[in-house]
Amino acid sequence: MTKALFVVSECAPLVKTGGLADVAGALPGALAQHGVAVRVLLPGYRTVMGQIGKAKTAARYDDLFGGPAKLLACRVVGLDLLILDAPHLYDRDGAIYGDATGADWPDNAERFAALCKVAAMIAADGADGWTPDIVHGHDWQAGLTPEYMHALGVTTPFVFTIHNIAFHGNADASKLGILGLDPARFTSEHFEFWGQISALKAGLAGAAKINTVSQTYAEELLTPEFGIGMDGILRARQADLSGIVNGIDLDAWNPATDTNITPYKSATGKSANKKALRQTFGLSPAAGPLCVLVSRLTEQKGIDLLLDALPALLTRGGQLALLGSGDPKLEIALLEAAEHHQNLAVKIGYDEALSHLMMAGGDVIVVPSRFEPCGLTQLYGLRYGALPLVALTGGLADTVINASPAALARGVATGVQFFPVTAQALANAFVRITDLFHDSKTWKSLQSNAMKQPVGWETSAAAYQDIYRSVIGTRP
Ligand code: ADP
Ligand code: GLC
Repeated sequence: MTKALFVVSECAPLVKTGGLADVAGALPGALAQHGVAVRVLLPGYRTVMGQIGKAKTAARYDDLFGGPAKLLACRVVGLDLLILDAPHLYDRDGAIYGDATGADWPDNAERFAALCKVAAMIAADGADGWTPDIVHGHDWQAGLTPEYMHALGVTTPFVFTIHNIAFHGNADASKLGILGLDPARFTSEHFEFWGQISALKAGLAGAAKINTVSQTYAEELLTPEFGIGMDGILRARQADLSGIVNGIDLDAWNPATDTNITPYKSATGKSANKKALRQTFGLSPAAGPLCVLVSRLTEQKGIDLLLDALPALLTRGGQLALLGSGDPKLEIALLEAAEHHQNLAVKIGYDEALSHLMMAGGDVIVVPSRFEPCGLTQLYGLRYGALPLVALTGGLADTVINASPAALARGVATGVQFFPVTAQALANAFVRITDLFHDSKTWKSLQSNAMKQPVGWETSAAAYQDIYRSVIGTRP
């Protein structure tokens, strides 16, 4: 077995703010089928510590960025975990990246540098009698790992996955000493970025291979528009950059066995869930499609475009049920819009069980993102027969087959894509999907195509295994 250490800041079902957690929670199981044994190194946030039960102490650190810490080894919910129990960094009220007001924790640089430093120490000395053959970091929170490995003289290959390039994990240069980083490497070649320490750049510079979570996003990242300042370094590393589309956990997201819904095997079984969903959101029966949207509410997700385009759906008898939380301005705008439109219902909050019912009861899952490295909700929608209506970008471009005349003629379409990513194009897409919905023969065939599309991890886990194979034995 190849031994891989995941370094990651969230992992479902223990702690989740977005798709990163889903990937960290599901990919290890898929890799196990390919001869890769993964251990996931995760911060011991208060919520995680409350779920792990009895754990073995694998290492102790007297002073890890300002306090004592322990590394705990345990197996929980089928995952082999290494939990970094550092109360001074992780045991606090509020969310995992920030306080209750939504502001980032001021010591986020130290909090995630600690994770990276411990990853490097595990690569150097092992933990719990286990030494990884490969270290696999995810997003900026894992980015400093190769710097600390370099400092310890460890040559274990480091693979870096970009889930979202918009977050750079920058810290003020004055933190170089506190973080124990080598000032001689504070250069544009390593981790200096416009005068700041960039954890993301450290990861990109130090990785033997870089990948992101879809082929299209891998190409988009090379452009200034999507690369957000990192396109230059990515163009320089193009030979080592690839796109591997995410899968979903086919057990957690299985309409035939899902305990959050009335289970069904074919799309005809969706009707009981549709009724329950309308009841939950206080929507009356309507003639048009019942659309759903489940998302973090941020600029990335195109919620403002949705608000502008919505009349095209609502005036045609369609409905929208939306679940999300995030930017307070977007939350308020959505709640206000819902007051004015009886066919728009909004719930602000985070509700995993309800998100399952939305896929089961919805006719359409809407994902109007400005950029989307992969996106998971359109994959849930495919599996549950809620047809994706998505922006033509990133993973949304790669996982949905647009109902173009050609795709309809060949009987392969699974949803609707729109481009450019504007309110007008989204409004047109609402018209197209409403027309398709009223053509019940075509709609049924789209649903059946969608529900048959493979959305698991099988192919992608094999692609990660190939990357690991290609770098084991090579120096970063
Ligand atoms: P991102 O990681 O950019 O947020 P993804 O589509 O990859 O986007 O993943 C989002 C994940 O978070 C999905 O599993 C989605 O169902 C879940 N999610 C987002 N917002 C909510 C919410 N308000 N309630 C429940 N689940 C949510
Ligand atoms: C990021 C991206 C999302 C992707 C997820 C998991 O949060 O925004 O598109 O699906 O990571 O890779």
